[in-house]
Amino acid sequence: MEALKKIAGIKAAEYVSDGMIVGLGTGSTAYYFVEELGRRVQEEGLSIVGVTTSSRTSEQAKRLGIPLKSIDQVDFVDVTVDGADEVDRNFNGIKGGGAALLMEKIVATPTKDYIWVVDESKLVETLGAFKLPVEVVQYGAEQLFRRFERAGYKPSFRQGEAGRYVTDMQNFIIDLDLGQIPDPVALGDQLDRTVGVVEHGLFNGMVNRVIVAGQDGLRILEAKH
Ligand code: 5RP
Repeated sequence: MEALKKIAGIKAAEYVSDGMIVGLGTGSTAYYFVEELGRRVQEEGLSIVGVTTSSRTSEQAKRLGIPLKSIDQVDFVDVTVDGADEVDRNFNGIKGGGAALLMEKIVATPTKDYIWVVDESKLVETLGAFKLPVEVVQYGAEQLFRRFERAGYKPSFRQGEAGRYVTDMQNFIIDLDLGQIPDPVALGDQLDRTVGVVEHGLFNGMVNRVIVAGQDGLRILEAKH
């Protein structure tokens, strides 16, 4: 699996060229993309500016000598490469397994070419086997939790090393064990309207292409939108 992630990550770096502002994703697959970019910066003199999606990726990029700007210092991002936890055939997906969904969505939104890198196990018929991460403000989080319970969403607070996991943006994550999400767009809209929810891990129709590494090689799925 690790080898497949690496193949996908390295392939994605081909979409980056001199002068670009590049969104740097988070997770074990995006990691290989960032490593390859760092190699190209060091060995080939590739000139780019990175915008990171988590403190973890910031640390990695700094170690590799990739110049960085914050998302507030740029008007747009040329290309962002990130991982995903599940992807369906309509190019809807679940993200946030690594708890970076809020920053990831903020960087993805002004991105011209948004790319996911996944191994083939992430392709699903219906989203929802992977628990849907929902980032919530700490104030009133238990209220919201009980509301999710009453709705039958089987919520659980994401745990860290010392109690509840706290995101880079100082929020909690509630994971929803939905089993199946027959209508991701409707659920995304509903969560968007839920007070206390900062962001959710449904990234519906945002991605432009998905680089899939499998036992039979690489496939690139192009979204029509
Ligand atoms: C982090 C994410 C990751 O991109 C997602 O969890 C996939 O990670 P990995 O490539 O390690 O499976 O959304 O918030």
